[in-house]
Parts: sequence; structure tokens; C-alpha cells
Amino acid sequence: MSVRQKEVTILAIESSCDETAAAVVVNGRDVRSNIISSQIDIHTLYGGVVPEIASRKHIERMNQVIMQALNAAGMSLDQMDAVAVTYGPGLVGALLTGVAEAKAIAYAKKLPLIGVNHIEGHISANYIENPSLEPPFLCLVVSGGHTHLVNVKDYGEYEILGRTRDDAAGESFDKIARAIGLGYPGGPKIEKAALKGNADAICFPRAKLSGNEYDFSFSGLKSAVLNYLNGCQMKNIPVVKEDVAASFQKAVVDVLARHAARALDEYAIPKFAIAGGVASNAAFREAVEEACRERGVLFYRPSPVFCTDNAAMIGAVAYYEYLAGRFAGWDLNAVPNLALT
Ligand code: KG4
Ligand code: ZN
Repeated sequence: MSVRQKEVTILAIESSCDETAAAVVVNGRDVRSNIISSQIDIHTLYGGVVPEIASRKHIERMNQVIMQALNAAGMSLDQMDAVAVTYGPGLVGALLTGVAEAKAIAYAKKLPLIGVNHIEGHISANYIENPSLEPPFLCLVVSGGHTHLVNVKDYGEYEILGRTRDDAAGESFDKIARAIGLGYPGGPKIEKAALKGNADAICFPRAKLSGNEYDFSFSGLKSAVLNYLNGCQMKNIPVVKEDVAASFQKAVVDVLARHAARALDEYAIPKFAIAGGVASNAAFREAVEEACRERGVLFYRPSPVFCTDNAAMIGAVAYYEYLAGRFAGWDLNAVPNLALT
């Protein structure tokens, strides 16, 4: 019987940053369970993710999270066809805990092991709630570590049209949130504060780069916001956090939407998706959706729970790796700077 004729059930594990996550996914799109144990409360105390603490917490929580994922799916390890795990990019110690766990389970249960690229996971989160979505499509991946505009040519086949030359968009949300005293994680806190602010109060710059017009840069914007805050402090002008949050968010969203619009105009691909933690931001979603609507292009976005780190998206990628027969050896290792292509 070919693999296409039978159901393929995958146990997926994700531990690249500060979420310990496990999921059971059937045929890449049918999520039977999706357990996420967030460490946000711990890292908030330090204003950002502390890698050593993240690794230790993954070790403490991993077995429990996997058991919960199997229980919630009503399945046992004996019913799995493969074990998949994120092996990069991410924090090396955090990745290693997931890789070691996945190897141990796969070895003990004589199951194939599948190594998954985390960015590919974010892109593939779009498959979960859109059963009819298939490549080719364009995808703007915007997370805490990455800002990539990608042409998804086929399952496992990607062309990067543009990427950030410095900070990732999510990273800039986190840094600005810290600077205005909103704390970690910055994205959701800036979004909430921005709802009460005036997005036109302060005109922050939108970087235009020479060279590849699809590349991004957010460090100039970050410096502009920090300079504005310093200026206010020196002149004894009170800072309206909500206005800073709204004006900053608008500057980021404008740049992201401008790149999306340019790609929509240049590439005759009628499907556009967004992904990554920042894709849960309503202002960003609406701006890209609007650009797609104006051009008659289908717009896709994962629900917020599938935008931020989760293991279901890893299970989605792993299914297509399974079909392609791309399995990892016992020498699978964490690759902190793993590239998409
Ligand atoms: O994809 P993700 O969970 O982890 C990485 O792979 O990096 O993304 C986390 C990032 C953080 O920088 C966080 O501040 C940002 O996504 N984020 C948001 C929102 N929710 C999460 N940024 C803007 N608005 C949000 N609602
Ligand atoms: Zn991520």
C-alpha cells in the first residue's frame, strides 16, 4: 500500500525558543491535539528570553507536554507513524532538548525521524485551517527572529524574495515595548496600547533600501523611536505610550504591506499568506488582506494560536517530508542558524 493511501499520524515536537510544544497531526492538516506550554511568565521577569533558562524548562516540561498531546488526541505512541522535531533555526540549547527527545522516542518505538525547519513550520501553519491551500503561493513570514518574503513553489521548495538585513519585525516590537515600559513579549502589548493611541501622532521613518527592493530593515525605525523617547526625556515632554505604540506599529505595518503589495503586483500568483507571531497582529492582517482584496488575490492567515510557536505546524511540514521520503538519521543535530533554502 502506498503511503498516500493510508493515514499518516505524526507526533510533532517544537522547542526552538520559549514554548515547549507537542502535537498529534494526521495527514498534515488534521490536528488531533496541540499542546503549548509557554515560558513567557518566567522570561518576563528578565525582559526577554534567557536561553539557559529556556533549555532547562524545556527539559522539565517536555515529557509532560508530549503525554498531554497523546492523551488529548486519544492515542498512544504505538499509533504514530513518525516523530517530527524542529531542528533549527532557534536557540541551540532549546532545540537540542527537542531533538534529543524526538530521537529517543523514535529509536525506542522504531519510528522514522523527521527534522523540520522552524520557518517552514510557520509557513505551513496556513495548511491547517485551509484544507484546499496548496503551493504555489507567496508568504510573508514575520516572527521574533525572522522577516522573510517567500515564494512557496511547492511543498519543501522555497525561493526567498526578501529578508531583513538587521532586526526582525517581531524583535523590533519587543525592543520598543521594553523601551516604553510595556514589558515582554512586546508584540501583543504594543498592539493593545496602539488601540488607544493615535497612529499619526509621530511620523517614524519607513526604510527604503537600495539593492533588493524586497529586503527589509527595522533598525533605523528602532533608533528613531529611541531618539524620540530620549528627546522627550531631555525636553521634559511627557511620552504618550499609546501614541508611540500606534505610530511605531503603523510604520512597521506600512513597510510590510508595501512589500506584500509589490510582490502581489510583480508575481502573478493568486494566493498570499502571512505567518509567524506578528501575523496575529490585527493591524498587519487587515493591511495585507486589504492589499489582496484590491487585487483579487486570495488571502490566508493562521488563527493566532497557529501564528506563534506551536508543534501542529511542525506536524504539517513533516507530513510532506514523510510523503517525499525525507527522513533524518540518528545524527540529526540542532542547527541554530538553519536556512530555509
Ligand atoms: O513566531 P514566534 O512565536 O516566535 C519566533 O519564531 O520568533 O514570534 C514571536 C514574535 C515576538 O517578537 C512577539 O512580540 C511577536 O511575535 N508577536 C506580535 C504579536 N504577537 C506576537 N507582534 C505584533 N503583534 C502581535 N499581536
Ligand atoms: Zn517561531
